[in-house]
Amino acid sequence: MAPITEILAPDSAGIARGAALLAAGGLVAFPTETVYGLGADARSDSAVAGIYAAKGRPSVNPLIVHLAAPDQAAALAQVTPLAERLAGAFWPGPLTLVLPLRDGHGLSERVTAGLGTVGLRVPDAPVAQALLTTFGGPVAAPSANPSGRISPTTAAHVLEGLAGRIDAVIDGGACTVGLESTIVDLSGETPRLLRAGAVSVEEMSAAASLPVTGDGKATEDDAPSAPGQMSRHYAPRTPLRLNATDVLPGELLLGFGPVQGSAENLSPAGDLREAAANLFAALHRLDEQGARAIAIAPIPDTGIGRALNDRLRRAATPRL
Ligand code: TXA
Ligand code: MG
Repeated sequence: MAPITEILAPDSAGIARGAALLAAGGLVAFPTETVYGLGADARSDSAVAGIYAAKGRPSVNPLIVHLAAPDQAAALAQVTPLAERLAGAFWPGPLTLVLPLRDGHGLSERVTAGLGTVGLRVPDAPVAQALLTTFGGPVAAPSANPSGRISPTTAAHVLEGLAGRIDAVIDGGACTVGLESTIVDLSGETPRLLRAGAVSVEEMSAAASLPVTGDGKATEDDAPSAPGQMSRHYAPRTPLRLNATDVLPGELLLGFGPVQGSAENLSPAGDLREAAANLFAALHRLDEQGARAIAIAPIPDTGIGRALNDRLRRAATPRL
């Protein structure tokens, strides 16, 4: 539908143009604190169908609905007391809550892929906030990358994958968190982690006053939800070798902390948040260099390090 993709500034004119395109059923990529999302009006079947077409995403994989403010969730989903507590603690921010749909929600069935639940998120990034507030309705937005590829953390990454396939991208610079949101399923008896992210299970358990369980491997980025199954996602074209402390011939080594790396270092100081913010951009850059493999230094498996290792394991899973 869009032979030319407009590049919009993150100012009031750019936000107004983005919101107008959304209202007209268009596809607009925008920065959130996690990654760039590919937004469409979540109430419009045809707009939402456009997301799946632009990404080449299987239609059975549901989309996250983005809202400007926490109080908009109750019109769409059953906000349980537990959901209230987690939303109160982490919204706006990098947490997606999967909740039972509410009657009369008005969302396109394509957003939920026919499930009885919906994933909701209130992003914190100022550009996302401004776009959602100006548009004034729920925005369905997966990560703004072709299905199966690394999520974009800059507007340039979005254009690399989707230029000419979407109406616009709002260029708000690099995303501050750099990894996709934590997803927790609150539709069952106990809260279950579906995807690890910047908000850890320990933080959620403390805020919810009950344990959040699960290994974060239950959802797939670009395939139907398949509990416990690992598959290849977030993947560069170059093969990855994890937990590397040396560099083999033809490889590039991506360092972390004391493991210097032959190419670059995710965080020379060994700071996991800095490493998370740098990871996808580093993989994008190294993937361009045509190396035999990208070797990656060990990353401690604590806090956001667990989300980093989750993304790296998925990216390293061989193609089937
Ligand atoms: O940080 C993020 O979450 C980014 C930004 C743009 O908000 N979005 C994102 O969307 O990562 P996506 O589509 O790339 O990943 C969403 C994940 C998929 O694994 C999908 O299956 C799962 O969320 N999901 C969405 N709705 C669901 C539901 N009702 N039940 C279970 N999983 C759901
Ligand atoms: Mg994605």
